[in-house]
Amino acid sequence: MTDLDTLLSVTDFEQRWMAKADRAIGQYVAGGAGTDRVVAANTAAFDDVWLQPRGLHDHPVNLDTTVTLFGQRQAFPVMLAPTSPQRLVHPDAELATARAAASRGVVSIVSTDSHYPYPDIVAAAPGRTWFQLFAYRSRRDVEATLEFAESCGAAAIVVTVDASFAARRLSTQRAGYRLPAGVDYGTLRALGILRGDPPSSGRHDKLPVTWDDLRWIRGRTELPLLVKGVLRPVDARRCVDLGADGTIVSNHGGRQLDGVVPTVFALEAVVDSVPAEHPVLLDGGVRCGISAAKAVALGARAVCIGRPYLWGLGLAGQHGVERVLDLLRDEFADAMLQLGISTVGELDRSFVAEPPRRYAAIR
Ligand SMILES: Cc1cc2nc3c(=O)[nH]c(=O)nc-3n(C[C@H](O)[C@H](O)[C@H](O)COP(=O)(O)O)c2cc1C
Repeated sequence: MTDLDTLLSVTDFEQRWMAKADRAIGQYVAGGAGTDRVVAANTAAFDDVWLQPRGLHDHPVNLDTTVTLFGQRQAFPVMLAPTSPQRLVHPDAELATARAAASRGVVSIVSTDSHYPYPDIVAAAPGRTWFQLFAYRSRRDVEATLEFAESCGAAAIVVTVDASFAARRLSTQRAGYRLPAGVDYGTLRALGILRGDPPSSGRHDKLPVTWDDLRWIRGRTELPLLVKGVLRPVDARRCVDLGADGTIVSNHGGRQLDGVVPTVFALEAVVDSVPAEHPVLLDGGVRCGISAAKAVALGARAVCIGRPYLWGLGLAGQHGVERVLDLLRDEFADAMLQLGISTVGELDRSFVAEPPRRYAAIR
């Protein structure tokens, strides 16, 4: 039994990594905006969603956890959210993450703020990465970034719209976080957007993304375009109207706005506001396969995880990320069996015992 085999839940990975991580870096990963309350609330909100299994299967069980998104088959509906720069937690950073995602048959979404340049990451996992776009400096730079991502082989573009402004991350500030020497922004450097030393805060000035920018971005790529950071149904609808192909319900893991609604409480209304064929994904607080199953039952096509794979990466590089994915896949498969379904498509709201109490106070 290797050391990681004693870790039986994603939370075990969290505790093990936090115990060994540098305090400031540990806090940078763990922290959120203001009181950090939303980080905890994202996870706790899943406790307010209760499953209602049928136990009995319609047919002999032939379990199939796969889902297809934008023509791409995924082994199970959990993907890796963009996080930056992963060299903070492990020298192999995004290369290890992308390889782990590819080996487990899921997609890794790569941040514009990655440590390694995007071409190296794509080479590590051809066809298995989506590119997450931050808008830097000017439309000309955004256009060059999109062309770069496409030419490297991105399978989709994810525009993050909830992190245009620097957040008040008090716990991270209190821990004295500074970007350590040796951590870089390889993609921004390859694009010529970053020259010289990276800012010690790790923070670069981004352009706020306007609706007009989003329409303009839509016109500049043929790739599937997803908008990450949507919480209001009316905004999701507007994204669809201007040609977005997917929506990610996200509050940036509680890192931007203290007091923002936990994502699983925002999910259903967003799903109801867009056409049935428009994929809605969710991230924030997913710490087990059961939570993934709850999100899918409430209408998400897939979920993304952020911190959980960073814990695996920090503990054991590619192998650590693979172990976290294995755990989530096993838990998700177990949930399907216990619920009495064979395919992910069967998982719908009838498996949720009662509507989640939206905006309920979090314990
Ligand atoms: C350390 C860290 C860095 C992140 N960097 C980015 C980023 O560069 N781009 C982005 O769109 N989201 C970023 N996020 C947000 C994640 O993509 C995702 O929304 C969030 O982590 C999901 O919540 P979870 O950590 O509870 O799973 C980051 C999150 C963390 C924890």
